[in-house]
Amino acid sequence: MPVTHKVPQALPAHVAIIMDGNGRWAEARGQQRADGHRAGLEATRLAVRFLAEQGVRTLTLFAFSSENWGRPREEVEALFELFVSAIEAELPELVERGIALRFIGDRASFPPDLQTRMSEAEQASADNDRMCLVVALGYGGRWDIVQAARRWVADGAPGADAESDFADYLSTAGLPDVDLLIRTGGERRISNFLLWQAAYAELLFIDTFWPDVTADELRQGLTWYASRQRRFGRVRPAEDAREAVRDA
Ligand code: IPE
Ligand code: IPE
Ligand code: MG
Repeated sequence: MPVTHKVPQALPAHVAIIMDGNGRWAEARGQQRADGHRAGLEATRLAVRFLAEQGVRTLTLFAFSSENWGRPREEVEALFELFVSAIEAELPELVERGIALRFIGDRASFPPDLQTRMSEAEQASADNDRMCLVVALGYGGRWDIVQAARRWVADGAPGADAESDFADYLSTAGLPDVDLLIRTGGERRISNFLLWQAAYAELLFIDTFWPDVTADELRQGLTWYASRQRRFGRVRPAEDAREAVRDA
């Protein structure tokens, strides 16, 4: 990837990407869907490098959803093999770049060798603090909320500020909310990704299939994000009428 100019304006602290379009990319070339996933891995490498170089501190990538278990067995197995080899091949460079890997999702049904690689990679990179690269595998937003709710209730639903305390039980505990959510591949939907965490994310839908994504498109995405006025329900930023209304 060529050396890129930094985006000067406000950077999203947390970028999340629904990396969609691998299958259609391959089918358009008369190739197997698994070839599309392999090509998608190249785009993933490019995106991680580019966004880390820009200074994005948290990047969450949707790689396999709870619903993707419903795909043909051969495709699911090809994906798991790709995950195993990608973790092995990419880990040294991630560590070198100061990137911590973290996986979110229900990994209980994954092949044991994949589960082992995932935990080993998390341990080996845990001390890195330049960027947290979160890979959502076997992830569903509803699964996350239900697993959090179960544990929160089991703990006696603790906390004075229910929303922020509940968030500590989500798989993304300790990470900021999503600022910018990008989906490639042309569909305009969330597909059960970070339902809670993306409550106020800026949404960017790109038609490009994931394997064709370029650093330039990602840079345009960051520039577009910087031009958004994020109001969070207010008319102007940083105002809260509650006190004034109560004291009137
Ligand atoms: C996204 O690409 C990657 C995974 C879901 C694993 P798809 O495989 O969904 O590609 P399309 O949407 O069929 O083109
Ligand atoms: C979302 O893409 C999941 C991932 C990118 C891993 P899908 O291709 O599975 O989503 P739908 O089926 O089009 O909603
Ligand atoms: Mg898809």
